[in-house]
Amino acid sequence: MAANASLLKPVPYSSTATGPFALAAKSLAGNDLCSIADLSAGEIAALLKLAHAVKARPRDYRYALDAKQLIMFFEKASLRTRLTFETAINTLGGNAIFVDQTQSPLGERESLGDISRNVERWSDGIVLRTYAHETITEMAQYAAVPVINALSDLEHPCQALADFMTLEERFGTVRGLKFVYVGDGNNVCHSLMLTAALLGANCVVATPKGYGPKAEIVAKANAILGDIGGSLTLMQDAQAAVTGADAIYTDVCTSMGFEHEATKRAPLFKPYQVNEALMARAAQHAVFMHCLPAHRNAEVTDQVLDGPQSIVFDQAENRMHAQKAILLMLLGAAVTPERRKLPKPARRRAVALQ
Ligand code: CP
Ligand code: NVA
Repeated sequence: MAANASLLKPVPYSSTATGPFALAAKSLAGNDLCSIADLSAGEIAALLKLAHAVKARPRDYRYALDAKQLIMFFEKASLRTRLTFETAINTLGGNAIFVDQTQSPLGERESLGDISRNVERWSDGIVLRTYAHETITEMAQYAAVPVINALSDLEHPCQALADFMTLEERFGTVRGLKFVYVGDGNNVCHSLMLTAALLGANCVVATPKGYGPKAEIVAKANAILGDIGGSLTLMQDAQAAVTGADAIYTDVCTSMGFEHEATKRAPLFKPYQVNEALMARAAQHAVFMHCLPAHRNAEVTDQVLDGPQSIVFDQAENRMHAQKAILLMLLGAAVTPERRKLPKPARRRAVALQ
């Protein structure tokens, strides 16, 4: 007798459940995650709830994505994102195939539509790290399976979800928290602004003149805030921005793809360095955050990065837990926290050949 395959399947959300978690799980199943703005407030809350649950009881989800296949194309280097997606899917029972696209951008050898229509036949999800954000949105348009943004020039949604999960661990809730981003108004900054807005935090962004966040992201964040509360303040004065902050976040001054601007940027970003003097202006309980990799003693000093207020490695750890939640939700295997216990898999028996 063949093993009962249903024992290996995750407990699905109940089709009749109507609680906020079940509704979010239903609406997220099969979706793409190109931008944080793809998520509703209910969906982001449910994703984070699942991320905390998965972190607390990883074994309950051990077979939730049994035999699911991810295919990951990366045009840029990665340590954390690649390895946390791979460890996430592997420990949920699935598998990932990594395709190094650093030598030839996606779409060069064949069209993005044709790549999508091939890859969807062999996989349950596509993870993309690209230069152009449009590469991700175009593949999402064609692919029948969920497409996940693992960083583009415009956004880094998986990072922001892990970061706000980390803040929830520290502070319980992020509603009303003073979250200050200092530095380049880049992809990470954009996703953080949108996440802060969806979760009702008070977000302050301090950037050098000419390096602020894109107007389209500011408009999206403000539109979200109109419904939810919280606030978004943009300024250039880093000292004023961090005063009384609960969390100070920075990223590199020069992101991947902008290396040719590094020399020009270095002096402009000096006043935005997070050092002990800047940290001293924040609340006593304030935490320091960075997506990593950090350029030590450029945007942040060793003293702050390695100091007692730094939670950068908690953020890095939570990349894996948050991405497990993303995969469970988008691949349709999310379970309600109340019904998440999975049965042990039945021992597989070889099927005798006739
Ligand atoms: N934070 C982050 O995305 O790190 P990697 O570039 O190493 O993936
Ligand atoms: N803003 C950085 C983030 C790296 C994780 C970059 O895009 O290079």
